[in-house]
Amino acid sequence: LSSEKYNIQRKTFGTIDPSDVGYFRSILGEDRVLTDESDVLPYNIDWIKNCRGQSRVVLKPRSTEEVSSILKYCNDKRLAVCPQGGNTGLVGGSVPVFDEIVINFALMNKIITLDDLSGALVCEAGCILENLDNYVRDRGLIMPLDLGAKGTCHIGGNASTNAGGLRLLRYGNLHGSILGIEAVKADGTIIDCLRALKKDNTGYHLKHLFIGSEGTLGLVTKVAIHCPVLPKSVNLGFFGVKNFENVLKLYKSAKSKLGEILSAFEMADFDSIDCTVKNLNLPNPISEYPFYVLVETHGSDEAHDSEKLTRFLTSEMETGLIVDGTVASEPAKMQTIWNLRESIAGAGLAGGYVFKYDVSIPLKNYYDLVPVLRKRLGDKAIKVFGYGHVGDGNIHINVTVPQYTKEVSSLIEPYIFEEVSKLNGSISAEHGIGFRKPMYMHYSKDQSALQLMKDLKQLMDPNGILNPYKVLPDEA
Ligand code: FAD
Ligand code: MLT
Ligand code: ZN
Repeated sequence: LSSEKYNIQRKTFGTIDPSDVGYFRSILGEDRVLTDESDVLPYNIDWIKNCRGQSRVVLKPRSTEEVSSILKYCNDKRLAVCPQGGNTGLVGGSVPVFDEIVINFALMNKIITLDDLSGALVCEAGCILENLDNYVRDRGLIMPLDLGAKGTCHIGGNASTNAGGLRLLRYGNLHGSILGIEAVKADGTIIDCLRALKKDNTGYHLKHLFIGSEGTLGLVTKVAIHCPVLPKSVNLGFFGVKNFENVLKLYKSAKSKLGEILSAFEMADFDSIDCTVKNLNLPNPISEYPFYVLVETHGSDEAHDSEKLTRFLTSEMETGLIVDGTVASEPAKMQTIWNLRESIAGAGLAGGYVFKYDVSIPLKNYYDLVPVLRKRLGDKAIKVFGYGHVGDGNIHINVTVPQYTKEVSSLIEPYIFEEVSKLNGSISAEHGIGFRKPMYMHYSKDQSALQLMKDLKQLMDPNGILNPYKVLPDEA
């Protein structure tokens, strides 16, 4: 249990009783109120099997009005809730800690409108990212974000975590792409900021309060999001690189030589790919190298774009920045390469337990902490590996161990966050704070900023029922 593992005390919320379940059944019907222990269990466990809550009730609303009625009731009775999308979050934010009621958005999955001229898509929060991408692709557009969890994560979860992903380098983050949001406050008030306009300077940009606040300020029920045009030509390169210094040189060169068509620049070290290839039995299209780089282009002229990427490969093989490489434009081959990269996230789980860290570090020090942690942990870790979104200065450091132990945990935390802070980095680049990091927030946010967060929380959720034990440090 998360509460025991991390020594957390339950706050003084109400306790759910049969009359509460009766009320929820009166508004949702029998089927959308889960109380059977085995039905509820999967909603209590997070994707990396690090956190486990003790909820006894899962609610599955189908409309904003239902979400509003649920929250009004819970707020009046001081019943705590845990909003949940696809439950792919990696910081324990999407599962309850104690008996919080899970409000799962899976049934709020309707697409409302798509304007194929402006690219504005309006949909409910529970739409699965990949389904949205398939839908808009058929109409000449793509979703502005892409991540390994696309087949499961929800757009509402993406908005609530301000998810980054594989193409942020090109299409920017969700604070830029999300045009509007509809959300429900703790007391049940529906906040309609669902404009699908690019420009709307009518006072405070309230939608931003809900983007990245991980369900602590309100529940996102609908999203309006800008979809870029489907690129006519997509090319992918997968390169072997001798050392990390050359990865950075290659990044600089890619920005200048590929310019406007560059859409992703990802890196993975030897152990990331080795672990993924071996644990998941996936093919590596090139030989083994200390570092791998994946470069993608999105453009409008296939001949021009593929020539540009091939020329980049040839010239950087001459300079020695690339030791070996392959380029592809056939969907199946590109898919194999992306699949290898996207599968790193889960590869460590096959060997036991994985400690995951998602940090931003200025590029010149981007990889520094991987060798430092390897040395610090010695044979206490199976592997320490680093991979991530170089273009965004975001590295994921994973430590795999046979099983979770407090000893290894305390060797890594708070040490890693102290080091990130010394390097002027962020302790959470894209995954959020969730349950796992509130106590470390001060490494990246000063007291005045934390106080303002606390004031906002007090204003929007005075009883603290929305996703308690998450994001805000207790002492802030
Ligand atoms: P959940 O995990 O269900 O919830 C995440 C948080 O949002 C929780 O705090 C939850 O309470 C809250 N929440 C969910 N829905 C709502 C709502 N409607 N209203 C209010 N609060 C809500 N993340 C990245 O940023 N970049 C990546 O590249 C990336 N790759 C991943 C790859 C894999 C294989 C996996 C498993 C995860 C990856 N993630 C990545 C992390 C995760 O997928 C993202 O954080 C994603 O945005 C979470 O969406 P979800 O629907 O699963 O949300
Ligand atoms: C990724 O970039 O693969 C994701 O953020 C998931 C992870 O950190 O493992
Ligand atoms: Zn990532």
